[in-house]
Amino acid sequence: MAPKSRETFGSRMGMLLAMAGSAIGLGNIWRFPYTLGQNGGAAFLLLYVLMLVLICLPVMISEYLLGRRGGSNPFRTFDILAPGTKWRWIGFMAVLSSACILSFYCVVGGWSVKYLADACSGVLMSFDGDYSDLFGSFISNPWKPLFYTLVFLGITGLIIALGVRKGIERMSKLMIKVLFLIIVLVVIRSLTLPGAMEGVRYMFVPDFSKVTADTCIAAMGQAFFSLSIGCGCILTYASYVDKKENIAASSAWIAFFDTTFAIVAGLAIIPAVYAIALMNGVNPNVSAGPGLVFITLPGVFKAMPLGGVAALLFFLALLLAAITSAISLMEVVVAFIIEELRRSRVHAVVTCFLLCGGVGVFCSLSFGPLEGFKLFGLSVFDFFDYITSNIMLPAGGLLLAVFAGWRLKRANYLDELTNSGNLNIPRWLSLTIYYLLKLVAPLAISLIFINCILS
Ligand code: PHE
Repeated sequence: MAPKSRETFGSRMGMLLAMAGSAIGLGNIWRFPYTLGQNGGAAFLLLYVLMLVLICLPVMISEYLLGRRGGSNPFRTFDILAPGTKWRWIGFMAVLSSACILSFYCVVGGWSVKYLADACSGVLMSFDGDYSDLFGSFISNPWKPLFYTLVFLGITGLIIALGVRKGIERMSKLMIKVLFLIIVLVVIRSLTLPGAMEGVRYMFVPDFSKVTADTCIAAMGQAFFSLSIGCGCILTYASYVDKKENIAASSAWIAFFDTTFAIVAGLAIIPAVYAIALMNGVNPNVSAGPGLVFITLPGVFKAMPLGGVAALLFFLALLLAAITSAISLMEVVVAFIIEELRRSRVHAVVTCFLLCGGVGVFCSLSFGPLEGFKLFGLSVFDFFDYITSNIMLPAGGLLLAVFAGWRLKRANYLDELTNSGNLNIPRWLSLTIYYLLKLVAPLAISLIFINCILS
């Protein structure tokens, strides 16, 4: 069983903000706007919400439920719930997925540290050339990005070393509040630019002619990544949660918060890109891909009044969001090392830092000196991004759904969901969640998975 001295979250609010912090991250601010831009705007948004409700929310509720019932790290949790079976290897895969995600996530986290530093020192706004050159020469430099990657991972490690309440909970509470405040300020700046409404229209007036099978897959992948499901983060946080918590309500709240934040982040970026493009008489380039935040946006900030302040606030928000997600990834690995390998928290943090930092170095160098080195035809960074987002997360989600829907008894599932009947959840709702999980989610996830293998 789990050790008795296991820490727990101190308050309901702290727990909710920590989980929301895990969900809200680079996925919302960096990935969501450009994926939206690449997939036709509002129609993508509608699909995203559909996938979220039908597939991701039931999977999230189950991950939460299993974590709370097991009360341990992912590996041990499956051993507790299905003793002596091979299911615990799903738990091990979750730990591995989190370590792999952290290894490339810390590279982008490092970029945000660098951009924040440049926004503070004024270098970013005084730069006179092409921002794609600035970005390109930074990420291909053999040393600089490594330094920032390790700084980012170091900050993450320090927070985790402080423990669940003093580290994760306290920092998430603080950072998420600041993050929300900042992003609202940036939205106000973005929406008050002349011509910004064109961008808003792009986001909210759907053009269904743009919807293809790929749009559906992209929406589902984004929802998985954004909610942090399928790799044990929600499960591990849930193991620190009080038994009285309403799992379905908390999950719905987190998903709502995460989606709202993604839309708000979109509103901070897309209307500004439209407004500045209209001002300069060029076509708005919202489908610029991963460079949208690091290449297009600095140019947008430079062209707008009060752009220096907006840039500083924006990159601070990006960094805070990245940290609250990175700590959830590191905690999965650290909880595993503490409980399975019986090491102290600090020892576990150092091990994780060395492990993920070591892989992170290769991910970072793959934009520079190691550019020519390919794994299955992909650079090291792209390889980790690809296998985690497209294979490990959906596979983890699928196995989780199968475990919760088919291995766990229905009575136990419903018992956990309703806190042994103490919560007043209508039976039709509990059953709907159960069948979405048992039937709809595995089928739909299998489809993304097959698509990933074929494409
Ligand atoms: N949800 C995080 C984001 O949006 C990324 C993440 C994925 C974090 C998986 C933990 C687990 O950036």
